[in-house]
Amino acid sequence: MTLIFAHRGSAGTHPENTMAAYVEAERAGADGIELDVQLSKDGQLVVIHDETINRTTNGKGYVKDYTLNELKRFNILTKQQHILKIPTLEEVFDWLKTNDLYCNIELKTSKIRYDFIEEKVIALIKRYHFEDRMLISSFNHYSIIQCYRLAPEVEIAPLYSEVLFMPWVYAKSIQAKGIHPNVKTINDALIQASMENGIAVRPYTVDKEEDMKRLFKLQCSAIITDYPEKAVTLRRKH
Ligand code: G3P
Ligand code: CA
Repeated sequence: MTLIFAHRGSAGTHPENTMAAYVEAERAGADGIELDVQLSKDGQLVVIHDETINRTTNGKGYVKDYTLNELKRFNILTKQQHILKIPTLEEVFDWLKTNDLYCNIELKTSKIRYDFIEEKVIALIKRYHFEDRMLISSFNHYSIIQCYRLAPEVEIAPLYSEVLFMPWVYAKSIQAKGIHPNVKTINDALIQASMENGIAVRPYTVDKEEDMKRLFKLQCSAIITDYPEKAVTLRRKH
């Protein structure tokens, strides 16, 4: 069965990367959540997609230039004008203790070098004994290789947005058991060949119904989608 990961929570219907979005993912019947991690000025793991807080909060500036306390003062508004806050990875993990969802942690290390972010994420996973429920991905493949060095028991998966020839060969060379390609860069043959070669395929961001149906039919390993509720409904029919 194709697993369904809720992209940034349930970003299609709720403010991305907020506790409300993750709770919605669970309610919708998703198998897991995807989230993005950056580091605050005081070295705390915070869950936010962009390097700045400009797009998703009422503040301005880089995440790395604010302490966690300062970041918590900014607001994220829902459509109903409810005020939400930037979560820490620890807060998300506390909530994950209440369910059995998988969690795909994306390390946002392509634009900014966050010192020891890999060590911090691995330490937190170990503290919570979440090794079996985590998938660590990044467009910066050095980051996931470093995670594998620190904790080979935690699964890693490279993210990529270009067309890759025989991606399973590359995945195996860095000890990844899966790949997270942009859905636009892959076709049925590549998905099947990757899975036959023992490499899971979890494309992002699969929001169109026709793509969901095609991937469910192929028994693709997982999809990462902004619309987990729609995906769960379609999966029931396939
Ligand atoms: O993990 C898949 C996807 O989240 C990667 O792209 O920009 O949404 O973080 P982005
Ligand atoms: Ca992401």
